Amino acid sequence: MRGAAMSLTAAARGFVVFLLSVPVIQGQSDWGVTYLSTPICALKRSTVDIPCTYRYPSTTSHQTTGVRERLWFTKFSNNEPVDLKTDSDYTGRVQYNCDKLSCTLRITDLRESDSAEYKFRFITNHTLGGFTGSPGVTLSVTVPDLQVQVTRSWTQGELRCHSSCNVPDNPSYVWYNNGQKMDGETSSSLSVSVEDNGSYSCAVTGYEAYRSPPVYAPKVGPLSLTPTGEIRENSRVNLTCSSDANPAANYTWYKNGKPLNGKAQLVFSSIQSSDSGQYYCTAENQLGKRTSESVFIDVEYAPRFPSVYAEIVEGSSVTLTCSSDANPAANYTWYKENEDSPKASGQIFNITDVRPEHSGNYYCEAQNSRGRQNSTLNLIVVAGNSTTIMHIIWPTVVVLMLIPLLLLSLWASWTQFRKKKTLSSTTKPHEPVELELDSCPDYENISDTAAKTEYPDEQEDLSDSCPVYGNI
Ligand SMILES: *[C@@H]1O[C@H](CO)[C@@H](O)[C@H](O)[C@H]1NC(C)=O
Ligand SMILES: *[C@@H]1O[C@H](CO)[C@@H](O)[C@H](O)[C@H]1NC(C)=O
Ligand SMILES: *[C@@H]1O[C@H](CO)[C@@H](O)[C@H](O)[C@H]1NC(C)=O
Ligand SMILES: *[C@@H]1O[C@H](CO)[C@@H](O)[C@H](O)[C@H]1NC(C)=O
Ligand SMILES: *[C@@H]1O[C@H](CO)[C@@H](O)[C@H](O)[C@H]1NC(C)=O
Ligand SMILES: *[C@@H]1O[C@H](CO)[C@@H](O)[C@H](O)[C@H]1NC(C)=O
Ligand SMILES: *[C@@H]1O[C@H](CO)[C@@H](O)[C@H](O)[C@H]1NC(C)=O
Repeated sequence: MRGAAMSLTAAARGFVVFLLSVPVIQGQSDWGVTYLSTPICALKRSTVDIPCTYRYPSTTSHQTTGVRERLWFTKFSNNEPVDLKTDSDYTGRVQYNCDKLSCTLRITDLRESDSAEYKFRFITNHTLGGFTGSPGVTLSVTVPDLQVQVTRSWTQGELRCHSSCNVPDNPSYVWYNNGQKMDGETSSSLSVSVEDNGSYSCAVTGYEAYRSPPVYAPKVGPLSLTPTGEIRENSRVNLTCSSDANPAANYTWYKNGKPLNGKAQLVFSSIQSSDSGQYYCTAENQLGKRTSESVFIDVEYAPRFPSVYAEIVEGSSVTLTCSSDANPAANYTWYKENEDSPKASGQIFNITDVRPEHSGNYYCEAQNSRGRQNSTLNLIVVAGNSTTIMHIIWPTVVVLMLIPLLLLSLWASWTQFRKKKTLSSTTKPHEPVELELDSCPDYENISDTAAKTEYPDEQEDLSDSCPVYGNI
């Protein structure tokens, strides 16, 4: 109830205000000055026309009204507007073109100091006197401030000479291609073919000194790559594509020919070996597309855990092969436990005429400029009846060996009587487990696969598929 009463009061009050305001608006509309356009921009040294219309009550109850005086002004002197015709700053440069209800101001040979707000005032013989149209017209006098705007349709570019200020009279233009004036092109727009490698700029006729900045297809590069020099795995790498394009270019990075992103910068917070490759970028704006030179990123890394591959060859000799993924390529050194000097260098270590005293732990060390890594291989040579039996034991697949020991032992004794061929493994220290070489038919293939992979986990397959492991 109370709320309803209040809103009624409010509505009534609003209505009263509205009624009161009407006569004020009515009164104003008898007197007025209307400027046709505001603000106005004009070029230095050119001519500008500032038109307006005005109105006043032509009759009152007692008399006819007539206009006694019309003037344009920008400033006051002794509280009186200063008629531009008497202003020494405008001597010889202003004309009024007036009739009963309109009056146009013309200023010739514009100067930058003419930038001001211009108002029209008229004085009548009516008792109310005169009227000033306010706010007036803001005039900015400038030198041409031009930009070439580009719109593109397929292979055609449409260039438009755009001025930051709207010059009133339609000026004539001059176009430049690669700095040379183009004959016969005087319109504010110009059609060009995209990819013609040209640069274009424009000027207003008579103001050739004030040319727009040129537009052109991007000139891309040079690429910037930080760090310079060798790139280590896990380091931060920043590739930056640059161009001086106008209008601004958008960028695309490519790796080995495949697009990556649409940014000027390609930042790897922690670069990986898989990021190695050939990189380049393109810069494209409405006037064309350019491709940068390419740069090869070669991510260097320390050797991965080496994989060790053992092959028993006829005649009781064994060839140990060590390989490790590394960049730059690793060199290899073989050590035997409890022996100070290396047994061999190089990927392959041959032991000819294998005897039980060759048993022991062998270390393959892979080293490059980024680091080194060891894998251990345990070789057990047992003198059998007439055969030399070799067990190659290496320290990886520990999780898989939770099979009951008894069963494994039984297996071991059973398999000892079989002829063995080859064996290999990727190894990882500190996870010792013992495996026995045997003649599982697929062993060689599986081993080859396993030897190439850098992930020790994958050996689970190997052990599952070939039941020849055993404790010694
Ligand atoms: C005002 O000027 C108009 C037109 O010139 C004229 O007809 C009128 O008599 C003048 N009124 C007075 C009071 O001077
Ligand atoms: C423009 O330049 C690009 C690269 O600089 C070049 O491949 C192309 O052929 C040039 N096109 C013309 C029309 O000159
Ligand atoms: C990448 O390099 C560019 C140019 O060298 C630099 O301006 C930019 O800040 C760098 N960005 C990052 C994320 O480091
Ligand atoms: C890059 O710019 C060109 C020309 O302006 C445009 O056609 C293209 O769609 C832009 N590409 C992206 C990814 O913004
Ligand atoms: C190791 O033995 C293999 C097979 O017998 C042989 O081909 C190779 O040349 C030998 N390598 C070295 C370094 O002795
Ligand atoms: C292996 O490479 C490292 C690093 O490049 C080097 O210091 C070392 O002397 C090389 N060793 C052999 C045996 O070539
Ligand atoms: C690899 O093993 C050898 C022999 O025990 C040792 O001298 C070397 O320092 C080890 N290298 C690494 C990287 O552990």
